[in-house]
Amino acid sequence: MTTTRGKFVVFEGLDGAGTSTQITRLRDWLVERGERVETSREPSDGPIGLLIRQALGHRLDIDPATLALLFAADRTDHLFNATDGVVRTLESGAWVLTDRYVLSSLAYQATTGLPPEWVAQINARAIEPDLTIFIDTPVDVCVARIDGRSSRDELFHKRDFLARTAAEYDRILTHSRLTGHLLRLPGDAPPDTVAAEITRGIEAWLAGK
Ligand code: TYD
Repeated sequence: MTTTRGKFVVFEGLDGAGTSTQITRLRDWLVERGERVETSREPSDGPIGLLIRQALGHRLDIDPATLALLFAADRTDHLFNATDGVVRTLESGAWVLTDRYVLSSLAYQATTGLPPEWVAQINARAIEPDLTIFIDTPVDVCVARIDGRSSRDELFHKRDFLARTAAEYDRILTHSRLTGHLLRLPGDAPPDTVAAEITRGIEAWLAGK
């Protein structure tokens, strides 16, 4: 018997957009429907992801280009790691829901002033997801949510930076070939409403496949 490959679903949005809440909701919904589901995130929980989190928390001083290379390296490890990499998990038939992926690098690292073509080039090994869910939450709502967290002093948690990142996301979402099917929905509604819109969008996508 051949195993049907699982689906690779990526959540994207600004910091504070609400991606982690929605990943948990979607996982529960898929599990109820009998799917096997793994969740992951970038920066990953692997060695390179840990290094990146130190830089994001100002515990390591890393220049923007080096940080971009670390994000790209963390991504190949997250994808191709022989033990629990995304590709291996998909081949086992499970869905993978990932909090952030290559569009985060294209949006955030471009906002740090790096040439978008170079950021795309160092990410050339990133596979295309089946589905990208972009949670489109206004910058002011994101900033208010970040301000309410205990771990708010992160590298990119500044209003002006996030506003420019939002503009980058807008630009990329219209031409990137790295989204797969794209679901873009407003993120300032209550979590239940956003979750219901996501599952409606996924049902329509699956029905059309
Ligand atoms: P994340 O832990 O998702 O932050 P939050 O929980 O605040 O949304 O992501 C950490 C930060 O890393 C976030 O500011 C976005 C940034 N980032 C990049 O700059 N490039 C990347 O490729 C990725 C995956 C994340």
